[in-house]
Amino acid sequence: MTDQSPSDPELFTFPHRQIAKRVFKTREITSTNDVMLKDPEKLFHSGDVLWSLRQSKGRGRYDRVWNSPQGGLYFSILFEDIPRLSAFYPYVLLCALAIRNVLADRTREDFFTIKWPNDVYADYHKIAGILIQSHTAYQGSRAVIGMGINLNNPMQHLSNLRSPAISLYELTGNPTEPESFLEDLLDRADAYYRDFIHLRFSHYLPELNRVLYSKDKSLILTEGKHQRIVIPREFTKDGYLKCEEDGETVILMV
Ligand code: BTN
Repeated sequence: MTDQSPSDPELFTFPHRQIAKRVFKTREITSTNDVMLKDPEKLFHSGDVLWSLRQSKGRGRYDRVWNSPQGGLYFSILFEDIPRLSAFYPYVLLCALAIRNVLADRTREDFFTIKWPNDVYADYHKIAGILIQSHTAYQGSRAVIGMGINLNNPMQHLSNLRSPAISLYELTGNPTEPESFLEDLLDRADAYYRDFIHLRFSHYLPELNRVLYSKDKSLILTEGKHQRIVIPREFTKDGYLKCEEDGETVILMV
């Protein structure tokens, strides 16, 4: 497997969707984000999804490794012609909400939350992360949203993560079929996308604020090598986070 293009992609189509109409599935790849961003053969179009059963060079925020053994869910969605990457951040938050809500629906548990900027937690354990990246050569007009969800993957492989992690398997005691989870998730991500492009992000604010991790409680946020202590208050209509820090109101942007 090169990190240029998937060698054996299987293609699934979902014509009813606006994004994620085409889902390419591969057995192993370096990183779905990297491959979709580079894509020298122009295999992928805007809205396409690349899903891999494993990643050999999965990446997280701040260049951390995202261990990606068989059993987890690893995929990216490509977006082209994005005017400004920052205008897209509210949608990344909606992707976190989509993951959160699929987990909540499937487990009938309400303890899933969204930790700034877009991690999904089960109580105090990270269960999913999102990495948005743009291609410098395209000056932000081409971006991928990559999502990694701990479904059945063994958690000892995740011991280098800074946040304590958990898998859905550990939570429920039952394995989850990645394909059906992905299908539910992409249906939701597609529905939320339609609302996002029709300027209805603010309709989601009450729901997002209900599931905000550590709402009104002190939280240590780690940003690369830096840490800050904040009290998260609420998400804003631009998808930022309003917090209190040292007695002052601050707005956190990605
Ligand atoms: C984080 O929490 O730091 C973000 C993790 C994002 C992981 C996903 S898995 C699919 C996609 N490909 C990658 O290399 N990373 C993202």
